[in-house]
This record gives sequence, structure tokens and C-alpha cells, in this order.
Amino acid sequence: MGSWAAERKFAFMQIHILSVVPELLESPLGHSIMKRAQEKGLLRVTLHHLRKWAVNEYGQVDDYQYGGGAGMVMMCEPLEKAIIELSADGPFDEIIYLTPDGETFQQKTANRLSLKNKLLLICGHYKGIDQRIRDKYVTLEISIGDYVLSGGELAAAVLVDTIGRLIPGVLNDETSALTDSFQDNLLAPPVYTRPADYNGYKVPDILLSGDLKKIEEWRYEQALDRTRKRRPDLLGEE
Ligand code: 6GU
Repeated sequence: MGSWAAERKFAFMQIHILSVVPELLESPLGHSIMKRAQEKGLLRVTLHHLRKWAVNEYGQVDDYQYGGGAGMVMMCEPLEKAIIELSADGPFDEIIYLTPDGETFQQKTANRLSLKNKLLLICGHYKGIDQRIRDKYVTLEISIGDYVLSGGELAAAVLVDTIGRLIPGVLNDETSALTDSFQDNLLAPPVYTRPADYNGYKVPDILLSGDLKKIEEWRYEQALDRTRKRRPDLLGEE
């Protein structure tokens, strides 16, 4: 852990997630880097079943939409009660609603959110949540791309993973998050490992040369080339 991370030893990010199927999030958040972040005490993710705040003994949290039409809408009362109860030990820095009509999630948003202390993620289901909760409580609405998921849970997992790995001390090599695709608007260059010759498929000579300056230049050229071909929009060359 680097020294600047050590200074934050007692600070950790709290992420609360509200869902009608929190089980969907257990596996993605229970392994690998997200598991380690939580074990190190740098991140604490708490899953909450919205039914805990249901309006009746049947566990109801949704109802038909006014004006008619297919699909249920998640009711105000369970969501508001949950938000108030989970705010008791301090307000949320952001209350984020995961929805396909939100703003598209970007690395810069992840960077900004990784500096916060307490976040709430609300996973939408069915036709989504009552607009009044969005108006009164939600501070940020995020979509993870132009396609439709059956619920916000997988999107929430994407957010937590993306944000969590940026928290200082979570990654072993703290510089590695800085060389990710997108941090500098460039896609990552190709990478290779042993053997140098795999059934005739060879690793580029330059990477075996030991000339660090040349290697860095090569990687940059490769990254630029890939970005031009696949994502010219990132270079403003659309
Ligand atoms: Cl955040 N939710 C749903 N249901 N679908 C999505 C999404 C979110 N982002 C992209 N598609």
C-alpha cells in the first residue's frame, strides 16, 4: 500500500444498494478485487432487500402505473423509508438510480465517485421507480449503455467494481489504474506473456529488446492505432 493510501487507513467508502433481488449482487461483489477491497476495510458494500420496507405483509413494493399500460412501478413509500433509515448515521453523498434512461456511465464519473464516502445505489425493476422519488431524492441517474437489462443490479455491480478499484489501496500496483483504457482517452495497447514464440506466433521483437524508451513509444503508437481504428470518437476524429 502506498503512503498516500496509508493516510486513509481509517477512511472507507460505504456503498448501500437497494434492490428487490440483492442475491444477484452477492457473487460479483464477493470475489477477487471487490472481496479484497472489503477485507482490507477500504470499501463496505451493504445489500438491502427493498421488501424490508414493504407496504404490507405480502411484501408489496410495486403497483400498477397511473394512466394505464403494462408493467409495475416501484412505490414511493418503501423507497423513501429505506432512504431515511439508511441516512440515519449520516447523509448520502449521492443517491444514484440505475436506469436505462440515465446518463451514460463514463470513467470520469467513476473517478469522481471514487472520492465520495457514502453512496446509495437504487436498482430499478419492472417499469422503474415512481418519478416523485427521482425528483425528491435521486441526485444522479446512470445507465451503463444503450441496451436494456432486466434490472439495475448488473449495472450496480458494474458501478461498484469500477468505482471500488479506484479507491486508493485497493489495487496492489496503484499506478495500474492510471494506465487503464479510457483514463487518458486511449484504448490499451496489446500485451504478451511467455512464451516468446507460441507455435510460430511471435511476440513483437521490440518488447524483448530491453529498450524501455522504445517500448514506451511502441505501446503509445499501438494504443493510438487501436483507438483510431476502433474508437475514433475518443480522439475527436469521428
Ligand atoms: Cl442502469 N438498467 C437497466 N434496466 N438497463 C440498463 C441499464 C440500467 N443500463 C443499461 N441498460
